[in-house]
Amino acid sequence: MSDGKPSIAVLGGTGDLGGGLARRWAKAGYKVIIGSRSAEKGINSAEELKASLPGSDVSGADLKDAATQADIVAVTVPYANHGATLEQIKEAVQGKIVIDTTVPLRPPKVGRVQLPEAGSAGQEAQNVLGDDVRVVSAFQNVAAHHLMADHDIDCDVLVSGNNVEAREVVIGLAADGGMKAWHAGPINNAAAAEALTSILIQINKREKAHSGIRITLGK
Ligand SMILES: NC(=O)c1ccc[n+]([C@@H]2O[C@H](COP(=O)([O-])OP(=O)(O)OC[C@H]3O[C@@H](n4cnc5c(N)ncnc54)[C@H](OP(=O)(O)O)[C@@H]3O)[C@@H](O)[C@H]2O)c1
Repeated sequence: MSDGKPSIAVLGGTGDLGGGLARRWAKAGYKVIIGSRSAEKGINSAEELKASLPGSDVSGADLKDAATQADIVAVTVPYANHGATLEQIKEAVQGKIVIDTTVPLRPPKVGRVQLPEAGSAGQEAQNVLGDDVRVVSAFQNVAAHHLMADHDIDCDVLVSGNNVEAREVVIGLAADGGMKAWHAGPINNAAAAEALTSILIQINKREKAHSGIRITLGK
């Protein structure tokens, strides 16, 4: 912890979604560790981010070291590498919050909902990591394009996970990144957010957009 704020490892932070989240959290004053399959790539990516955000606390490491160093670990890798990434960090994340952003897309039909047998990628993460890890699924419906920009984000975040306090922490992280987030129930409800992404991909194609979702309370 630095300044009372947890440190956050963003595994896959060299890419689009993770890069955007890392940028927003670093800007909000969190210590961020960019995790990559290559420590050198993670370090280079961290140097670039630090150079664009003077005064920020950003470093890079390989996946396991990043997960070991951080209080909270965000997984932002393609579904094809989800299982392998989880296996690599399983030991390092025991007792921690793991934020899973994965959408189980199966190219080339990414506009078609194709959820895995366990029900969702979030549920798969919980199954692999075990009950001592508080897996929280979030950010599946936010376009990386918006995260990289400096404006507030016109998209809500659905937050699923079996531990309410862990969901609360992630809702706070979303708020610090400029997003409104909602409790969306237990981890198996991650299926809904993951499935919605294929619908947003369909809309994006037709509308040439970076679409998102909004929850209305109708009070
Ligand atoms: N892009 C979006 O707008 C968006 C929105 C919502 C959710 N998501 C979800 O967030 C996750 C990351 O998406 P992304 O668009 O950020 O992905 P990406 O840029 O293609 O990849 C992110 C990082 O994952 C690592 N990686 C591990 N295995 C890989 C593989 N087989 N192929 C390519 N990269 C691999 C790479 O890091 P190293 O080489 O450094 O290891 C890469 O920089 C996905 O599960 C996606 O469904 C994305």
